[in-house]
Amino acid sequence: MSNKKKILVIGAFGNIGKYVAEVLSKKHEVIKAARKSGDINIDITSVDSIKEAYKKLGKLDAVVSCAGETFFGDFETVTEEQFYKGIKSKMMGQINLVLIGKDYISENGSFTLTTGILSEDPVKGSVNSTTVNNAVHGFVLSASKELKKGLRINAVCPGLVEVSAEKLGAYFPGHVPVPMNRVVQGYVKSVDGICTGEVIKIY
Ligand SMILES: NC(=O)c1ccc[n+]([C@@H]2O[C@H](COP(=O)([O-])OP(=O)(O)OC[C@H]3O[C@@H](n4cnc5c(N)ncnc54)[C@H](OP(=O)(O)O)[C@@H]3O)[C@@H](O)[C@H]2O)c1
Repeated sequence: MSNKKKILVIGAFGNIGKYVAEVLSKKHEVIKAARKSGDINIDITSVDSIKEAYKKLGKLDAVVSCAGETFFGDFETVTEEQFYKGIKSKMMGQINLVLIGKDYISENGSFTLTTGILSEDPVKGSVNSTTVNNAVHGFVLSASKELKKGLRINAVCPGLVEVSAEKLGAYFPGHVPVPMNRVVQGYVKSVDGICTGEVIKIY
């Protein structure tokens, strides 16, 4: 029996996504997606874009999202409009990948979303990130109980990754960066393991 899966990786050219795509490619067929590059273009903030991509791709065994933007900035002045950045992208973008994708994904398939350590260890200016990360965790928990066809869903929740530490480290005082190979194993666990409804913390 072949365990080779057809996997859609969204955000496959980012700091995290490019390593996730590379490691999953060793065992599986990986379709790389992002807004501007990839085997297929997807903008997760657009329901039409998500639907169009799923229709084109047909049956998938797993969907992995390493995409999702948030607003970073001063708590004192943050506006509703700025808050919608994270809601539309990291929160509803990833949720819509599941709500729409559940009809396209094969029996016993899986969804893997990405959140981050700011969910429980905020830094200055992270209120939007912290809020939407926790919304995604809530969605994962609840959806795991209701998804049919044996579908699984998890969130990988990385700490600040070593490759991003040079650029972002100053915003994360006291955070200890995590190596990429540990982060990637969170995605491997979600895709090839048996867990569901879990927040896979890699701190
Ligand atoms: N890096 C870290 O240390 C770290 C730690 C914890 C959590 N995270 C989380 O992990 C996720 C990925 O982080 P990263 O550092 O790898 O980000 P990144 O380097 O900015 O890469 C993001 C990737 O997602 C794509 N993308 C962005 N918006 C998209 C959209 N609306 N639709 C489809 N694709 C989109 C980008 O390509 P296009 O621009 O071409 O679309 C790119 O391929 C983020 O949610 C981040 O908050 C990161």
